[in-house]
Amino acid sequence: MRKIFLSALMLTLLALAACGPAATPTTAPTQVPAAAPTKAALKGELNLLCTPQQEWCDGMKKEFETVNPGVTVNFIRLSSGESLTRLRNEKANPQFDIWWGGPADSFIAAKQEGLLEPYNSAGLANILDPKLMKDADNAWAGIYVGSLGFATNTDYLKKNPTVKAPTSWDELTQPQWKNQVTIAHPASSGTSYTAMCTIMQLRGEPKGWDYMKAFSANVFQYTKSGAAPAQLVGRGEAAVGVVFSHDIVAAQESQLPLQLTFPAEGTGYEIGAMAIVKGAKHPELAKAWFDWALDPKTQELGPKYKAYQAPTVKGAKASKPELLQVKLINYNFDYCGTNKKAFIDKFSNEIASADKAK
Ligand code: F6P
Repeated sequence: MRKIFLSALMLTLLALAACGPAATPTTAPTQVPAAAPTKAALKGELNLLCTPQQEWCDGMKKEFETVNPGVTVNFIRLSSGESLTRLRNEKANPQFDIWWGGPADSFIAAKQEGLLEPYNSAGLANILDPKLMKDADNAWAGIYVGSLGFATNTDYLKKNPTVKAPTSWDELTQPQWKNQVTIAHPASSGTSYTAMCTIMQLRGEPKGWDYMKAFSANVFQYTKSGAAPAQLVGRGEAAVGVVFSHDIVAAQESQLPLQLTFPAEGTGYEIGAMAIVKGAKHPELAKAWFDWALDPKTQELGPKYKAYQAPTVKGAKASKPELLQVKLINYNFDYCGTNKKAFIDKFSNEIASADKAK
Protein backbone atom coordinates (compact mmCIF):
# COMPACT_ATOMS: atom_id res chain seq x y z
CA MET A 1 0.00 0.00 0.00
CA ARG A 2 1.31 3.44 -0.85
CA LYS A 3 2.27 5.65 2.00
CA ILE A 4 -0.39 8.27 2.62
CA PHE A 5 0.39 11.62 4.11
CA LEU A 6 -1.04 15.07 4.51
CA SER A 7 0.54 16.88 1.64
CA ALA A 8 2.76 19.54 3.14
CA LEU A 9 3.10 20.82 -0.37
CA MET A 10 -0.60 21.53 -0.62
CA LEU A 11 -0.44 23.51 2.57
CA THR A 12 2.49 25.47 1.17
CA LEU A 13 0.44 26.04 -1.94
CA LEU A 14 -2.42 27.44 0.08
CA ALA A 15 -0.16 29.61 2.18
CA LEU A 16 1.52 31.02 -0.92
CA ALA A 17 -1.75 31.52 -2.72
CA ALA A 18 -3.19 33.32 0.27
CA CYS A 19 -0.37 35.86 0.21
CA GLY A 20 -1.99 37.74 -2.67
CA PRO A 21 -0.19 39.94 -5.16
CA ALA A 22 3.16 41.48 -4.26
CA ALA A 23 2.78 44.86 -2.51
CA THR A 24 3.09 47.87 -4.81
CA PRO A 25 5.89 50.35 -3.99
CA THR A 26 4.71 53.39 -2.05
CA THR A 27 7.20 55.93 -3.50
CA ALA A 28 6.26 57.50 -6.82
CA PRO A 29 8.72 56.95 -9.68
CA THR A 30 10.84 60.03 -10.40
CA GLN A 31 10.73 59.53 -14.17
CA VAL A 32 7.89 58.76 -16.50
CA PRO A 33 8.58 55.17 -17.60
CA ALA A 34 8.86 54.47 -21.30
CA ALA A 35 5.59 53.17 -22.74
CA ALA A 36 5.48 49.39 -22.88
CA PRO A 37 5.53 48.11 -26.47
CA THR A 38 1.93 47.40 -27.48
CA LYS A 39 1.14 43.87 -28.59
CA ALA A 40 -0.38 43.61 -32.04
CA ALA A 41 -4.13 43.15 -31.59
CA LEU A 42 -5.11 39.52 -31.96
CA LYS A 43 -7.64 38.57 -34.59
CA GLY A 44 -9.36 35.38 -35.65
CA GLU A 45 -11.16 32.34 -34.22
CA LEU A 46 -9.82 30.21 -31.41
CA ASN A 47 -11.18 26.66 -31.18
CA LEU A 48 -11.26 25.59 -27.58
CA LEU A 49 -11.80 22.12 -26.14
CA CYS A 50 -13.23 22.87 -22.70
CA THR A 51 -13.51 20.23 -19.95
CA PRO A 52 -14.71 22.08 -16.81
CA GLN A 53 -18.42 22.69 -16.25
CA GLN A 54 -20.40 24.53 -18.96
CA GLU A 55 -20.93 27.72 -16.92
CA TRP A 56 -17.19 28.24 -16.40
CA CYS A 57 -16.43 27.50 -20.09
CA ASP A 58 -19.08 30.05 -21.15
CA GLY A 59 -17.69 32.61 -18.71
CA MET A 60 -14.07 32.14 -19.82
CA LYS A 61 -15.04 32.50 -23.48
CA LYS A 62 -16.69 35.85 -22.73
CA GLU A 63 -13.82 37.05 -20.51
CA PHE A 64 -11.20 36.24 -23.16
CA GLU A 65 -13.23 37.91 -25.91
CA THR A 66 -13.58 41.02 -23.74
CA VAL A 67 -9.80 41.42 -23.41
CA ASN A 68 -9.25 40.36 -27.05
CA PRO A 69 -12.12 41.97 -28.98
CA GLY A 70 -10.75 40.76 -32.32
CA VAL A 71 -11.02 37.10 -31.28
CA THR A 72 -14.04 34.81 -31.30
CA VAL A 73 -13.76 31.74 -29.11
CA ASN A 74 -15.64 28.67 -30.33
CA PHE A 75 -15.79 25.94 -27.73
CA ILE A 76 -17.20 22.50 -27.12
CA ARG A 77 -17.53 21.12 -23.58
CA LEU A 78 -16.43 17.48 -23.33
CA SER A 79 -15.42 15.36 -20.34
CA SER A 80 -11.76 14.33 -20.04
CA GLY A 81 -11.94 10.86 -21.60
CA GLU A 82 -14.17 12.09 -24.41
CA SER A 83 -11.68 14.92 -25.07
CA LEU A 84 -8.78 12.51 -25.25
CA THR A 85 -10.66 10.26 -27.69
CA ARG A 86 -11.55 13.27 -29.81
CA LEU A 87 -7.92 14.48 -29.98
CA ARG A 88 -6.76 10.96 -30.85
CA ASN A 89 -9.31 10.68 -33.67
CA GLU A 90 -8.41 14.12 -35.04
CA LYS A 91 -4.65 13.65 -34.80
CA ALA A 92 -4.16 13.92 -38.57
CA ASN A 93 -6.38 17.00 -38.86
CA PRO A 94 -6.77 18.74 -35.48
CA GLN A 95 -9.95 20.77 -35.04
CA PHE A 96 -9.05 22.30 -31.66
CA ASP A 97 -6.28 24.78 -30.88
CA ILE A 98 -6.17 24.46 -27.12
CA TRP A 99 -7.51 22.05 -24.49
CA TRP A 100 -8.35 23.81 -21.23
CA GLY A 101 -9.27 21.94 -18.02
CA GLY A 102 -9.59 18.40 -16.76
CA PRO A 103 -7.24 16.36 -14.55
CA ALA A 104 -3.59 16.20 -15.66
CA ASP A 105 -3.66 12.37 -15.96
CA SER A 106 -5.34 12.71 -19.37
CA PHE A 107 -2.79 15.32 -20.47
CA ILE A 108 0.03 12.97 -19.48
CA ALA A 109 -1.59 10.24 -21.59
CA ALA A 110 -2.08 12.75 -24.46
CA LYS A 111 1.57 13.82 -24.30
CA GLN A 112 2.66 10.17 -24.48
CA GLU A 113 0.56 9.78 -27.63
CA GLY A 114 2.13 12.85 -29.29
CA LEU A 115 -1.07 14.91 -29.20
CA LEU A 116 0.29 18.04 -27.48
CA GLU A 117 2.51 20.94 -28.56
CA PRO A 118 4.92 22.14 -25.85
CA TYR A 119 4.87 25.87 -25.11
CA ASN A 120 7.31 27.74 -22.93
CA SER A 121 4.97 30.49 -21.73
CA ALA A 122 6.49 33.26 -19.61
CA GLY A 123 3.65 32.59 -17.13
CA LEU A 124 5.10 29.17 -16.26
CA ALA A 125 7.65 30.97 -14.07
CA ASN A 126 4.79 31.98 -11.79
CA ILE A 127 3.51 28.46 -11.05
CA LEU A 128 3.43 27.65 -7.33
CA ASP A 129 4.96 24.18 -7.53
CA PRO A 130 6.46 23.60 -11.00
CA LYS A 131 7.50 20.00 -10.29
CA LEU A 132 3.92 19.01 -9.52
CA MET A 133 1.92 21.51 -11.55
CA LYS A 134 3.50 21.49 -14.98
CA ASP A 135 5.04 19.07 -17.41
CA ALA A 136 8.86 18.96 -17.37
CA ASP A 137 8.89 19.54 -21.16
CA ASN A 138 6.13 22.20 -21.02
CA ALA A 139 3.63 20.00 -22.86
CA TRP A 140 0.94 20.97 -20.32
CA ALA A 141 0.50 23.36 -17.38
CA GLY A 142 -1.69 23.26 -14.27
CA ILE A 143 -4.44 25.86 -13.99
CA TYR A 144 -6.30 24.68 -10.86
CA VAL A 145 -6.30 22.13 -8.03
CA GLY A 146 -9.28 20.25 -6.56
CA SER A 147 -9.91 17.37 -4.12
CA LEU A 148 -12.41 14.50 -4.35
CA GLY A 149 -15.24 14.31 -1.84
CA PHE A 150 -18.53 12.52 -1.13
CA ALA A 151 -21.94 14.20 -1.61
CA THR A 152 -24.76 12.72 0.47
CA ASN A 153 -28.44 13.68 0.20
CA THR A 154 -29.43 15.16 3.56
CA ASP A 155 -33.14 14.29 3.08
CA TYR A 156 -32.08 10.65 2.70
CA LEU A 157 -30.12 10.93 5.95
CA LYS A 158 -33.16 12.38 7.73
CA LYS A 159 -35.34 9.53 6.49
CA ASN A 160 -32.71 6.95 7.48
CA PRO A 161 -31.50 8.09 10.91
CA THR A 162 -29.22 5.08 11.43
CA VAL A 163 -27.25 5.99 8.28
CA LYS A 164 -24.44 8.54 8.41
CA ALA A 165 -22.73 10.33 5.52
CA PRO A 166 -19.71 8.17 4.57
CA THR A 167 -16.28 9.17 5.87
CA SER A 168 -14.25 6.36 4.30
CA TRP A 169 -13.87 4.68 0.92
CA ASP A 170 -14.54 1.39 2.70
CA GLU A 171 -18.05 2.41 3.70
CA LEU A 172 -19.10 2.84 0.08
CA THR A 173 -18.82 -0.92 -0.43
CA GLN A 174 -21.07 -1.74 2.56
CA PRO A 175 -24.57 -3.25 2.05
CA GLN A 176 -26.28 -0.14 3.44
CA TRP A 177 -25.34 1.72 0.23
CA LYS A 178 -26.59 -1.00 -2.16
CA ASN A 179 -27.90 0.74 -5.33
CA GLN A 180 -27.47 4.11 -3.64
CA VAL A 181 -24.08 5.16 -5.02
CA THR A 182 -23.43 7.20 -8.16
CA ILE A 183 -20.22 8.22 -9.91
CA ALA A 184 -19.23 9.01 -13.49
CA HIS A 185 -17.73 6.30 -15.68
CA PRO A 186 -13.91 6.48 -15.75
CA ALA A 187 -13.84 6.03 -19.54
CA SER A 188 -15.54 9.39 -20.07
CA SER A 189 -14.76 11.24 -16.86
CA GLY A 190 -11.51 12.49 -15.38
CA THR A 191 -13.23 12.85 -11.99
CA SER A 192 -14.08 9.17 -11.92
CA TYR A 193 -10.65 8.17 -13.21
CA THR A 194 -9.08 10.21 -10.38
CA ALA A 195 -11.23 8.24 -7.89
CA MET A 196 -10.27 4.89 -9.44
CA CYS A 197 -6.56 5.73 -9.49
CA THR A 198 -6.82 6.96 -5.88
CA ILE A 199 -8.08 3.49 -4.92
CA MET A 200 -5.24 1.81 -6.85
CA GLN A 201 -2.74 3.89 -4.92
CA LEU A 202 -4.39 3.39 -1.54
CA ARG A 203 -4.72 -0.41 -1.88
CA GLY A 204 -2.27 -1.57 -4.54
CA GLU A 205 -3.50 -3.03 -7.81
CA PRO A 206 -4.86 -6.49 -7.05
CA LYS A 207 -6.75 -5.29 -3.95
CA GLY A 208 -7.72 -2.10 -5.73
CA TRP A 209 -9.55 -4.16 -8.37
CA ASP A 210 -11.34 -6.15 -5.64
CA TYR A 211 -12.45 -2.83 -4.20
CA MET A 212 -13.67 -1.56 -7.58
CA LYS A 213 -15.79 -4.72 -8.01
CA ALA A 214 -17.37 -4.37 -4.57
CA PHE A 215 -17.91 -0.63 -5.07
CA SER A 216 -19.46 -1.18 -8.47
CA ALA A 217 -21.97 -3.62 -6.99
CA ASN A 218 -23.40 -0.67 -5.03
CA VAL A 219 -23.52 1.72 -8.01
CA PHE A 220 -27.02 2.66 -9.09
CA GLN A 221 -25.96 4.81 -12.07
CA TYR A 222 -22.76 5.75 -13.90
CA THR A 223 -22.87 9.19 -15.50
CA LYS A 224 -20.76 10.58 -18.37
CA SER A 225 -19.71 13.83 -16.77
CA GLY A 226 -17.85 13.92 -13.45
CA ALA A 227 -19.99 16.59 -11.80
CA ALA A 228 -23.38 15.07 -12.77
CA PRO A 229 -23.63 12.76 -9.71
CA ALA A 230 -23.93 15.84 -7.45
CA GLN A 231 -27.12 16.76 -9.35
CA LEU A 232 -28.44 13.18 -9.26
CA VAL A 233 -27.88 12.94 -5.51
CA GLY A 234 -29.29 16.43 -5.00
CA ARG A 235 -32.50 15.35 -6.75
CA GLY A 236 -32.70 12.25 -4.54
CA GLU A 237 -32.12 9.71 -7.34
CA ALA A 238 -29.20 8.24 -5.40
CA ALA A 239 -28.10 8.75 -1.80
CA VAL A 240 -24.36 9.34 -2.25
CA GLY A 241 -22.01 10.42 -5.03
CA VAL A 242 -18.25 10.63 -5.53
CA VAL A 243 -17.48 14.04 -7.05
CA PHE A 244 -14.82 16.76 -6.88
CA SER A 245 -15.52 18.71 -3.69
CA HIS A 246 -15.70 22.08 -5.52
CA ASP A 247 -18.56 20.71 -7.65
CA ILE A 248 -20.36 19.60 -4.47
CA VAL A 249 -19.98 23.13 -3.06
CA ALA A 250 -21.38 24.59 -6.32
CA ALA A 251 -24.37 22.20 -6.11
CA GLN A 252 -24.95 23.18 -2.46
CA GLU A 253 -25.00 26.81 -3.58
CA SER A 254 -27.81 26.03 -5.97
CA GLN A 255 -29.80 24.85 -2.93
CA LEU A 256 -29.41 21.10 -3.43
CA PRO A 257 -29.66 19.24 -0.09
CA LEU A 258 -26.12 17.85 0.08
CA GLN A 259 -23.62 17.11 2.82
CA LEU A 260 -19.93 17.16 1.85
CA THR A 261 -17.62 14.65 3.55
CA PHE A 262 -14.09 13.36 2.87
CA PRO A 263 -12.60 9.87 3.27
CA ALA A 264 -10.45 9.45 6.37
CA GLU A 265 -7.96 7.17 4.54
CA GLY A 266 -7.08 10.10 2.31
CA THR A 267 -8.56 11.45 -0.87
CA GLY A 268 -7.26 11.95 -4.40
CA TYR A 269 -6.91 15.32 -6.04
CA GLU A 270 -6.54 16.79 -9.51
CA ILE A 271 -4.18 19.24 -11.05
CA GLY A 272 -6.53 20.66 -13.69
CA ALA A 273 -4.37 21.21 -16.77
CA MET A 274 -4.28 22.87 -20.20
CA ALA A 275 -2.24 22.27 -23.35
CA ILE A 276 -1.88 23.46 -26.92
CA VAL A 277 -2.98 20.82 -29.41
CA LYS A 278 -0.25 19.55 -31.75
CA GLY A 279 -0.94 20.86 -35.25
CA ALA A 280 -3.27 23.62 -33.93
CA LYS A 281 -4.46 25.79 -36.81
CA HIS A 282 -4.32 29.00 -34.73
CA PRO A 283 -1.18 28.61 -32.61
CA GLU A 284 -0.79 32.34 -31.84
CA LEU A 285 -4.31 32.51 -30.42
CA ALA A 286 -3.73 29.28 -28.48
CA LYS A 287 -0.58 30.80 -26.95
CA ALA A 288 -2.49 33.95 -26.04
CA TRP A 289 -5.12 31.86 -24.19
CA PHE A 290 -2.38 29.82 -22.49
CA ASP A 291 -0.59 32.99 -21.25
CA TRP A 292 -3.89 34.54 -20.13
CA ALA A 293 -4.93 31.39 -18.23
CA LEU A 294 -1.74 31.60 -16.14
CA ASP A 295 -2.42 35.20 -15.13
CA PRO A 296 -3.40 35.45 -11.42
CA LYS A 297 -6.33 37.73 -12.30
CA THR A 298 -7.69 35.12 -14.73
CA GLN A 299 -7.35 32.37 -12.13
CA GLU A 300 -9.35 34.47 -9.67
CA LEU A 301 -12.31 34.55 -12.09
CA GLY A 302 -13.44 31.01 -11.19
CA PRO A 303 -15.87 31.85 -8.34
CA LYS A 304 -17.70 34.31 -10.63
CA TYR A 305 -18.76 31.18 -12.55
CA LYS A 306 -19.23 28.85 -9.53
CA ALA A 307 -15.80 27.25 -9.99
CA TYR A 308 -14.10 26.89 -6.60
CA GLN A 309 -10.92 25.05 -7.53
CA ALA A 310 -7.69 26.48 -6.03
CA PRO A 311 -5.35 28.45 -8.32
CA THR A 312 -1.89 27.26 -9.41
CA VAL A 313 -0.10 30.59 -9.70
CA LYS A 314 1.44 32.98 -7.19
CA GLY A 315 -0.65 36.06 -6.46
CA ALA A 316 -4.06 34.39 -6.99
CA LYS A 317 -6.20 33.74 -3.90
CA ALA A 318 -7.99 30.44 -3.29
CA SER A 319 -11.76 30.99 -2.92
CA LYS A 320 -12.32 27.87 -0.76
CA PRO A 321 -8.94 26.93 0.75
CA GLU A 322 -10.66 24.48 3.14
CA LEU A 323 -11.28 22.08 0.23
CA LEU A 324 -7.56 21.28 0.16
CA GLN A 325 -7.11 21.30 3.94
CA VAL A 326 -8.11 17.65 4.09
CA LYS A 327 -6.09 14.44 4.10
CA LEU A 328 -4.75 14.16 0.55
CA ILE A 329 -2.90 11.14 -0.78
CA ASN A 330 0.45 11.67 -2.47
CA TYR A 331 -1.28 11.28 -5.84
CA ASN A 332 1.15 10.01 -8.49
CA PHE A 333 0.10 11.70 -11.75
CA ASP A 334 2.70 9.88 -13.86
CA TYR A 335 1.50 6.49 -12.63
CA CYS A 336 -2.13 7.40 -13.29
CA GLY A 337 -1.47 9.05 -16.66
CA THR A 338 0.69 6.18 -17.93
CA ASN A 339 -1.82 3.52 -16.84
CA LYS A 340 -4.95 5.39 -17.88
CA LYS A 341 -5.77 3.41 -20.99
CA ALA A 342 -5.00 0.00 -19.42
CA PHE A 343 -6.98 0.73 -16.23
CA ILE A 344 -10.00 2.00 -18.14
CA ASP A 345 -9.98 -0.97 -20.53
CA LYS A 346 -9.82 -3.38 -17.59
CA PHE A 347 -12.62 -1.58 -15.74
CA SER A 348 -14.83 -1.43 -18.86
CA ASN A 349 -14.21 -5.07 -19.81
CA GLU A 350 -14.37 -6.66 -16.38
CA ILE A 351 -16.52 -4.43 -14.17
CA ALA A 352 -18.88 -2.02 -15.94
CA SER A 353 -19.02 -1.24 -19.62
CA ALA A 354 -18.92 2.40 -20.69
CA ASP A 355 -22.21 2.21 -22.62
CA LYS A 356 -24.07 1.95 -19.31
CA ALA A 357 -23.14 5.59 -18.56
CA LYS A 358 -25.83 8.28 -18.95
O1 F6P B 1 -16.67 20.80 -13.04
C1 F6P B 1 -15.37 21.00 -13.08
C2 F6P B 1 -14.57 19.73 -12.99
O2 F6P B 1 -14.86 19.01 -11.83
C3 F6P B 1 -13.11 20.04 -13.02
O3 F6P B 1 -12.58 20.43 -11.78
C4 F6P B 1 -12.56 18.78 -13.55
O4 F6P B 1 -11.25 18.96 -14.05
C5 F6P B 1 -13.56 18.43 -14.61
O5 F6P B 1 -14.79 18.90 -14.12
C6 F6P B 1 -13.60 16.97 -14.90
O6 F6P B 1 -14.70 16.68 -15.67
P1 F6P B 1 -15.02 15.18 -16.09
O7 F6P B 1 -14.99 14.34 -14.85
O8 F6P B 1 -16.39 15.27 -16.66
O9 F6P B 1 -13.97 14.75 -17.06
